[in-house]
Amino acid sequence: MEKETILVTSALPYANGPIHFGHIAGAYLPADVFVRYHRLKKNDIVYICGTDEYGVAITIGAEKAGRSPREHTDIYHKVIKDIFKKFNIQFDHFSRTTTELHRELSQKFFTELHTNRFIEDKMIEQHFCPKCRRFLADRFIEGTCYLCGQKEARGDECPGCGAWLDPLKLKDVKCKVCGTTPLIQSTRHWFLKLGEFKDRLKEWIDRHPYWKPNVVNTAKKQLEELTSRPITRDLSWGIPVPLPEAKDKVLYVWFDAPIGYMDATMEWAQQTGQPDKWKHYWQNPKCRIVNFIGKDNIPFHLLVWPAMIMGQTTPYTLAENIPANEFYNLEGRQFSKSEGWYVELDDFFKKYSSDQIRYAIAANAPETKDSDFNWRDFQKFNNADLANVLGNLVHRTLTFTLKNFGGKIPPFRGNNEKIQTLLQEIDRRQNAIAELYQTYQLRKASYEVIDMARLGNRFFDESEPWNQIKKDKTLCGEMIFGIFRLLEKLSVCLWPILPSTAEAIFEQIGIKTPLKETGWDFSSLIPSDGSQSIGEPRILFGKIEDEEIEKEIRKLKDSLTLKNAPATAYDPLKEGISYEDFSRMDIRVGQILEASPIKKSDKLLQLKIDLGVEKRQIVAGIAQHYKADELPGKKVAILVNLAPRKLMGIESSGMVLAASFSGQLRLLDPGDLPPGATIR
Ligand code: 2FM
Ligand code: ZN
Repeated sequence: MEKETILVTSALPYANGPIHFGHIAGAYLPADVFVRYHRLKKNDIVYICGTDEYGVAITIGAEKAGRSPREHTDIYHKVIKDIFKKFNIQFDHFSRTTTELHRELSQKFFTELHTNRFIEDKMIEQHFCPKCRRFLADRFIEGTCYLCGQKEARGDECPGCGAWLDPLKLKDVKCKVCGTTPLIQSTRHWFLKLGEFKDRLKEWIDRHPYWKPNVVNTAKKQLEELTSRPITRDLSWGIPVPLPEAKDKVLYVWFDAPIGYMDATMEWAQQTGQPDKWKHYWQNPKCRIVNFIGKDNIPFHLLVWPAMIMGQTTPYTLAENIPANEFYNLEGRQFSKSEGWYVELDDFFKKYSSDQIRYAIAANAPETKDSDFNWRDFQKFNNADLANVLGNLVHRTLTFTLKNFGGKIPPFRGNNEKIQTLLQEIDRRQNAIAELYQTYQLRKASYEVIDMARLGNRFFDESEPWNQIKKDKTLCGEMIFGIFRLLEKLSVCLWPILPSTAEAIFEQIGIKTPLKETGWDFSSLIPSDGSQSIGEPRILFGKIEDEEIEKEIRKLKDSLTLKNAPATAYDPLKEGISYEDFSRMDIRVGQILEASPIKKSDKLLQLKIDLGVEKRQIVAGIAQHYKADELPGKKVAILVNLAPRKLMGIESSGMVLAASFSGQLRLLDPGDLPPGATIR
């Protein structure tokens, strides 16, 4: 079969903060899975991404952080790149929009559109903040969307309905930086005459009746009202508009960003020593370009970007598909770092693997409606599907082989009808899974791969090898051989979603060729003569306990409460004291030796504490924040010369110090200093 030529892009994330599961579920994991499948098929495929580094959002983000936009984007370019690594998202190239190449190509796009009379300039009315003394484009303003009523709509896009907005129509507009109600003033801007592309865009969209209905519907709604839109801004951070009369104006970030797909491909081509190779994708009508995006990016990818391409003199390839996804939330509400509603990724990846989260996201991908990450589902996906079905099949097959066949995959004579039927079923399922990968159906694909493991378990159970081995060892071996063949194919089917697991299974069943090399279409690498030794059986997925999950949920809720605590949550400042007053307090590092609940008290814990110089008994009011069994070993700060007193009839000599805020309490951590060290 002829090899397909495919270029895959994922939306360029703003270099303005870390990305989270929501982004991964929308535009990256689905793309990575698709790309991995085609890599296995040995098609000619490149996967391009990078950070989106201009625009108002970045300007505000940098200002807030007290950095220059350049420093800000340098930091987040790296942060985001590292996050993708953690999720095992593998681009062929990850660029950024602040490169020289990107500036050149963006200006070329503008110039060609201008020469072809698709750009006009006009004086327009715009919001102007009298206090900040600047024009307020895009995210400099916030108001209520006049289409869907969403409160935090920006001057350009609405995060609720995804529409590309007319800022003058927004309701209750405020300056995002200072909250002032802006004035309206005139300024000159350059407009892309989108209306002129209406027919061509409609024709292009209609040529792809197989696109996702949500994508087509959103675009078509806006297609009807397509008019000229400003593509320049009064900002200092951006790509200069290449016209002498447009001094101090830069290109609108949504004009330059999608061009990044193309120059990042050029950069990749240069860096891989084949400088013209980018044309093989971008100037090749046979190349299949697929843009993975979240639903908020639909108008820009279905209307603006294709119009920009259509208006060029240089011919470029348009997308063949834009499988946009809906939103992926966290326990029922949108991820928001500023509101404390997020999962801290460093912490997450200390406990869980990329495959565990990849599977959880894939199995509940927001394909046709919004979906969400929730901790209990995460536990269920792991324990029920990954550990009990997949991990169990691999483990029981390997340990049985080790015990009964000396660690070698038993031979197969080829005339066993049951096994032949199984092998045919495996092939049939592999083809069905291929179809799902090709058509962006991640949810179904996840179900099917685990179901293939389920088939293996059923076959194992029905074959009863533990009985069979006593009756007919050869026949028993053939059953086991059949399961190894299933595991081999299952690894290949799993690889796009669970790459590390698939590779681990390959290794455990003793196949030396890397999975990436075997590809999708090989027949089998397992010899039927009984000569192949298996690797060491290792547990693929541990169980996640209820307690662990409850802790995560508690942490999430606590962080929400803390971030949203009102200013009244702060205790008022106390009256001043002298240094002498302070120095009378003897505060030491103590290490908790024992902790136990106190009968009839839900607030107090009884602690035995090592103070280096002596041991003490202290009663502390921390039972609602810490469980007794998590305390022994922990070091804390203690006021040791507080007069002893009795609490619930138990003597307490000293006080454990803790920070408290808005109903939350945290013990202070003195780090690696030993018990007895003085705190001053
Ligand atoms: O919505 C976003 O996060 C944008 N930075 C996506 C840009 S996609 C592409 F066009 F560059
Ligand atoms: Zn302002």
